[in-house]
Amino acid sequence: MAGWQIDDEGLAALEQRYRAQLINSLSGFKSANLIGTSGSDGITNLAMVSSVVHLGADPPLMGDITRPRSVERHSVDNIEAYGVFTISQVGAGFYQQAHQTSARYPRAVSEFSATGLTPEWWPGSTAPAVAESALAIWLRLEQLLPIAANDTQLVIGRIERLRLRGCSPQADGYLDIEAIGAVAVSGLGSYHATSRLARLPYAKP
Ligand SMILES: Cc1cc2nc3c(=O)[nH]c(=O)nc-3n(C[C@H](O)[C@H](O)[C@H](O)COP(=O)(O)O)c2cc1C
Repeated sequence: MAGWQIDDEGLAALEQRYRAQLINSLSGFKSANLIGTSGSDGITNLAMVSSVVHLGADPPLMGDITRPRSVERHSVDNIEAYGVFTISQVGAGFYQQAHQTSARYPRAVSEFSATGLTPEWWPGSTAPAVAESALAIWLRLEQLLPIAANDTQLVIGRIERLRLRGCSPQADGYLDIEAIGAVAVSGLGSYHATSRLARLPYAKP
């Protein structure tokens, strides 16, 4: 069967966008989320990310990786300035609008207005979530961790509020995100519906 390979020198020589697509594809199916923030003058901001990770349950921490701040990065600027942000999971009903938020809009333009998504407010925070999302999380910044290897940053937030629509956790706490139409993303723009193979019990030796 035909295959393909490349070494580190070959990777370094690849055209930039090609390399970005290729390397981004390697880490598999990722969660598709929107980071919601507000800036000065209350201008709301929304950005598509595929790097949201679970960091720990007690305290409840989640994070995402923000790209190098060599150009304007509105989300992380707002998070740094105001200390709060939201994570809204992308659903099958609005993934195209979610994707569009990755366009580099000027700071004065809200991606909510640009894409037609609806801001959802919680009085405890100045960061908007996405009303269309079945799973929205409000977080407070805990730490902005620089990653020296490539000048990116891990944004670590502590969960302050979790809002579900159309579902609730199962008896053991498991949340069936497939049932609420959460989509996965691969590469820099391939969106996927999921199909569960099985849910397995806690593994023991
Ligand atoms: C599928 C996909 C995944 C992305 N994942 C990330 C990510 O994890 N971190 C990041 O900083 N940017 C990511 N981006 C790029 C941001 O969406 C893009 O840079 C956006 O303009 C940032 O907006 P902001 O300047 O308003 O924060 C991704 C884009 C796409 C299409």
